[in-house]
Amino acid sequence: MKGIILAGGSGTRLYPLTRVTSKQLLPVYDKPMIYYPLAVLMLGGIREILIISTPQDLPNFKALLGDGSWLGLSFSYMEQPRPEGIAQAFVIGKDFIGGDPVCLILGDNLFHGNNLSGILKNAFAANTGGVVFGYRVQDPKRYGVVEFDENGNVIGIEEKPQLPKSNYAVAGLYIYTNEVVEIASHLTPSHRGELEITDVNREYLRRKRLRVKILGRGFAWLDMGTHESMQQAASYVQSVQNRQGVKIACIEEIAYRLGYIGGQDLRDIASDMKNNDYGQYLYEISQIKRTEIAKWF
Ligand code: TTP
Repeated sequence: MKGIILAGGSGTRLYPLTRVTSKQLLPVYDKPMIYYPLAVLMLGGIREILIISTPQDLPNFKALLGDGSWLGLSFSYMEQPRPEGIAQAFVIGKDFIGGDPVCLILGDNLFHGNNLSGILKNAFAANTGGVVFGYRVQDPKRYGVVEFDENGNVIGIEEKPQLPKSNYAVAGLYIYTNEVVEIASHLTPSHRGELEITDVNREYLRRKRLRVKILGRGFAWLDMGTHESMQQAASYVQSVQNRQGVKIACIEEIAYRLGYIGGQDLRDIASDMKNNDYGQYLYEISQIKRTEIAKWF
């Protein structure tokens, strides 16, 4: 399974914050936004990850994350010259994906909840087409919205409908078989000039091979595309972390827990962050056996 983080876009809803930098590099409490989707792919056990962003921003992502070897991962980078749609990720990422299945996550999405790792791994193992995640939201009009029949089967998905047929939005995390490369290559741009991910999902639905897995109310799915939602995400992260003493989306901790890096690696990473809470957390974690940390979750 290959992973893609789509971290381009225009970020106009966050102006003036995003006039000179990518939204996905902005802080969400104690870490850059991109750490949150990256942590999700890592929890799914994915180690080969493509990061797609704009030509202006890509150098900063490279400066932040490097080739991934410091986390026991492999990062590739590719440009999306213009924000021409989420599904364009599979056109840009064709060579990276090769013959493998792929999991795409949006760079401004935060997922947090019990057994996320197990949910992802089960979805990967069972997938014979596409798997998307449905999540109940108060205002579904801004999203792809799932339509169910009376037995709870998915019968349609509509992009940003005026009259949503349910309150279930499609979250920004998508799992596909390798066919997605071919499906994306045949898409035509929508009226807003984008290759729509909803059209990919509809094609899998037409082939009767789309599953919508509901993420229940115990899960947090937040997107961080506006000033308010970014602030809410930061408050959520701060509240949960301070209560538990365990960080959300600490990619260095996850790499250690999964056995990709050792305690000394963690201390090396922390060495220039000694003066802050993040660095001290990594130091503390590095003294605890990974098998002990695994029991926290
Ligand atoms: P959006 O929030 O739909 O758009 P945006 O980030 O361009 O912001 P705005 O609406 O404020 O102008 O994008 C969702 C996520 O997908 C976000 O992480 C950016 C990413 N994205 C791309 O990288 N390329 C694209 O072509 C699109 C449409 C989105």
